[in-house]
Amino acid sequence: MDNGRRIALTGFMGVGKSSVARHLSSIVKCDRLDLDAFIERNTGRTIADIINTDGEQAYRAIETENLVLALRETSARILSLGGGTWTIPANRELLAADGVTTVWLESSFEHCWTNISKSRKERPLAKNKEAAKQLFDVRQSVYCLADWHFIVRSEFTSYEIAIQIAEQVFS
Ligand code: S3P
Repeated sequence: MDNGRRIALTGFMGVGKSSVARHLSSIVKCDRLDLDAFIERNTGRTIADIINTDGEQAYRAIETENLVLALRETSARILSLGGGTWTIPANRELLAADGVTTVWLESSFEHCWTNISKSRKERPLAKNKEAAKQLFDVRQSVYCLADWHFIVRSEFTSYEIAIQIAEQVFS
């Protein structure tokens, strides 16, 4: 059950990209890379600090540089992107140029917001529900450009979603 594909998981903050990626990498038995964690390792700073101190635009430049590095210098075949990575045209071009298959974890805003509110991760672009909802709405038409869409609901576990992706995308 492995056609050798390299995939990138996209979707809104709180949808569960990192945990689906974790399960997927153990099901498919290949390395994964979490772009947010990769950026934090390479810069020695948290994403929240970069955005809060330097602004979103500066963060996006760092994110793109790190996406280039992740694609070139690592062999990870499962990438979990930040929630905004796929919304940047240059990033979509980089992923396409590398033949990466993109998978959108699609869900309701309420599902994401519940997870955002429960999470300890600081998300400067989702400081309150209104701001997050606005971003969520604007991004739907870009997320849907991904190659595959999988619906995420509260009653599905990350493991179940990962199994679906493994069966459909990797076989
Ligand atoms: C962002 C999502 C975050 C992180 C940064 C910006 C976004 O990642 O990359 O705070 O623009 O949606 P998660 O989707 O993993 O929370």
